[in-house]
Amino acid sequence: MVQQSMELVVPSLDRLDAYADALRRGFWSDNTRREASAREELAAIAADPAKFVASLDDPQARGAPIKLPDGTTVKRLPSYRRWIWDGDFCGNMNFRWQPGTADLPPTVLGHVGYGVPAWKRRRGYATRALALQLPACKREGLPHIDLTTDPDNEASQKVITANGGTLVGRFRSDAHGKEQMRWRIVL
Ligand SMILES: CC(C)(COP(=O)(O)OP(=O)(O)OC[C@H]1O[C@@H](n2cnc3c(N)ncnc32)[C@H](O)[C@@H]1OP(=O)(O)O)[C@@H](O)C(=O)NCCC(=O)NCCS
Repeated sequence: MVQQSMELVVPSLDRLDAYADALRRGFWSDNTRREASAREELAAIAADPAKFVASLDDPQARGAPIKLPDGTTVKRLPSYRRWIWDGDFCGNMNFRWQPGTADLPPTVLGHVGYGVPAWKRRRGYATRALALQLPACKREGLPHIDLTTDPDNEASQKVITANGGTLVGRFRSDAHGKEQMRWRIVL
């Protein structure tokens, strides 16, 4: 249950310091690349704050192609990040999609991903933030969204089931090198 008012906001320069502080305190946006991704984002913020903020909102997929761990590149999908905000930074909500279809390329594990810094967890923020994101996913014409979790990520699974999600199945992800669970939320 969310005790405090919380919203999803478009990343902006006036809130960037709070985001950078979270990165310095041990938060990261990329659950696969973790600390390395936080270091890269801090470097990008230091180099050009406005460019960094603009890069987080890319519904036209204008950004550079995505580099995969094996060094190959793939076309970027339309995507944007929203910041979960309770007066301070308290998490990321990421959304990416292919226009005109609910399918995703095999390199993209889910439409939506999220993260809440350790010091802001267990307040209902991720559950509420996903609920706030779903109408925006529907507006892109998607009949459903798919999400993936580690089998042991009970918190994320509860976030999904609290938002009407059901388990589609388990699969082996080459990117993660381990089993993943695929979930679906019908919009
Ligand atoms: C998953 C994550 C986003 C949850 O954020 P949160 O804001 O703490 O989630 P909520 O407060 O909405 O809690 C959701 C549910 O999970 C439960 N929960 C939270 N942390 C938990 C934990 N460590 N173990 C078990 N259950 C947990 C909550 O009690 C709540 O259950 P309830 O609805 O029965 O009360 C957060 O733990 C996180 O950022 N983890 C690392 C990144 C990550 O795993 N992202 C998702 C990738 S699929």
